[in-house]
Amino acid sequence: MKGLILSGGKGTRLYPLTFTSAKQLIPVANKPVLFRVIEAIRDAGVDEIGIVVGDTANEIKQAVRRGNKWGVEITYIPQEAPLGLAHAVKISRDFLGDDRFVMFLGDNVIQGGISPLLRQFAASEWNSQIVLTEVNQPERYGVAELNDQGQIIRLIEKPKVPPSNLALVGIYMFDAHIFEAVNAIKPSWRGELEITDAIQWLVEKGYRVFPYIHRGWWIDTGEPGEMLEANSRVLEEITPTIEGYIDRDSEVDHRVTIEKGAEVINSVIRGPAIIGENTRIVNSYVGPFTAIGAECRVQDSEIERSIVLEHSLIESLPARIQDSLIGRHVVLQRSPIRPKALKLTLGDYSQAGLL
Ligand code: G1P
Repeated sequence: MKGLILSGGKGTRLYPLTFTSAKQLIPVANKPVLFRVIEAIRDAGVDEIGIVVGDTANEIKQAVRRGNKWGVEITYIPQEAPLGLAHAVKISRDFLGDDRFVMFLGDNVIQGGISPLLRQFAASEWNSQIVLTEVNQPERYGVAELNDQGQIIRLIEKPKVPPSNLALVGIYMFDAHIFEAVNAIKPSWRGELEITDAIQWLVEKGYRVFPYIHRGWWIDTGEPGEMLEANSRVLEEITPTIEGYIDRDSEVDHRVTIEKGAEVINSVIRGPAIIGENTRIVNSYVGPFTAIGAECRVQDSEIERSIVLEHSLIESLPARIQDSLIGRHVVLQRSPIRPKALKLTLGDYSQAGLL
């Protein structure tokens, strides 16, 4: 088995963070979503992994390198434009050869990993296995229609009138027949070669495509709200460890991770939460579902259900920060200088919710 991770795309719904970073490198619980995807594939026993990259190829290569950190071997496959998931499969033919493979979208976060799924597919003679899960807004995804026996009748990409609430999760397993399918289909209305259409082609040609219904949570992290939700879900599942320093005046509950070199001084931290390496929390409150990255300082402030990336400073704020996504090297400070006013330097597409 091989692994194929799709990590192209511009991440426009996560501007301004994605002006300077690939969306797959935004961390949830202080670890980039892409790293979690690599780990899920590695933990399922696959160590040859291809990553399809686009405009953000350089940042992704810099962060992942050859994969030694995870004991896997990474091959990069450049995609000249985001022409669809099926197009990504098409251009990965040389890397994949005739092997069976799992394809995983680099911005998807799923509960429980993929080991059981991969075992089931590896032991089967199926041509493809897809993962489905119940969602509230199926029209935003690829949607499956099943018959009474649970077999696939039809798959449609972003249908206006969804035939069910079963969405296609961004994890797919294929054998080499998928190459016939991706070569046979035509671009959709959005100009992309849709993997949903390719799988529908397999179904129509009588190939064996089996659905696996995922019962846990799954998040496609396309926008800030989804990043925060993924952060909360992952924080709830990680095993907390305290490697940093907590002074006697602080109150830190049992669901909090304090990474190496971090310091908590005269502060309250309510979990689930994580404080990154060498970060200092001083005279502050950090509430549930918060991830503060490495090398930050939070002083005389309150923050809850938020993600803060590395090297940021939050100091003496007059109100609590909540439901916020804060990038790298951000400075949020109360200004003592008159006139008393909001003084902002915000990048393009920034969003600030003021009191
Ligand atoms: C893609 C697929 C869609 C699937 C979704 C899962 O959508 O086309 O079928 O349900 O990923 O994340 P996209 O993110 O390209 O809109």
